[in-house]
Amino acid sequence: MMHIKLRPLETDDMPLLTKLSKNWEEENSCYGYQRNEAAYFDKYRVFVAESDGKVIGYLFGTVEQSKSMTAIMPASTAYFEIEELYIDPTFRSQGIARAFMKYLENILLSEGIDKMVLSTATKDYKRILHFYIDEMGMSFGHAKLLKALKHADTSLEEHT
Ligand SMILES: CC(C)(COP(=O)(O)OP(=O)(O)OC[C@H]1O[C@@H](n2cnc3c(N)ncnc32)[C@H](O)[C@@H]1OP(=O)(O)O)[C@@H](O)C(=O)NCCC(=O)NCCS
Repeated sequence: MMHIKLRPLETDDMPLLTKLSKNWEEENSCYGYQRNEAAYFDKYRVFVAESDGKVIGYLFGTVEQSKSMTAIMPASTAYFEIEELYIDPTFRSQGIARAFMKYLENILLSEGIDKMVLSTATKDYKRILHFYIDEMGMSFGHAKLLKALKHADTSLEEHT
């Protein structure tokens, strides 16, 4: 893997950060994804991946206290909710996202936070679940599925 530096966001990173978010929207790889403007990042802890002095990926989220997730953790547990993880397409499948997640995990553990949560709307859900579950060791929480309904023949005859 080429040399990649993982670090917290600095003010000068903002133009490249918003550019990456715009690229993600244009890539159209996640249902409903809309680019973030600079101010959006203010309320989050943002980390970036840098290659040759250029930001090529980002990861951000925030610490929350659990309220309505008692099925997966006791009430009032502190956890980090990952809002977004993005790596520039030309840098993918080289282990950068994996290293990024590990980097975040170590920071969180050093702060006494031992749980991370995320939701994904990535269209290639089989690949993304493979990444988070098989490669990152996350466990499955819940899924929301949808079906566009159409009028169809409901007779049972052909099935009997
Ligand atoms: C998902 C993503 C962050 C992975 O980054 P990466 O640096 O390529 O990840 P790694 O090299 O550490 O791991 C690669 C694994 O990520 C998954 N992955 C890579 N690209 C993917 C994509 N476009 N869609 C879904 N999963 C993808 C695969 O499981 C892949 O394993 P493989 O290379 O063996 O097929 C990157 O593809 C991306 O930014 N995708 C668009 C944004 C996105 O879907 N973010 C996650 C939403 S919460």
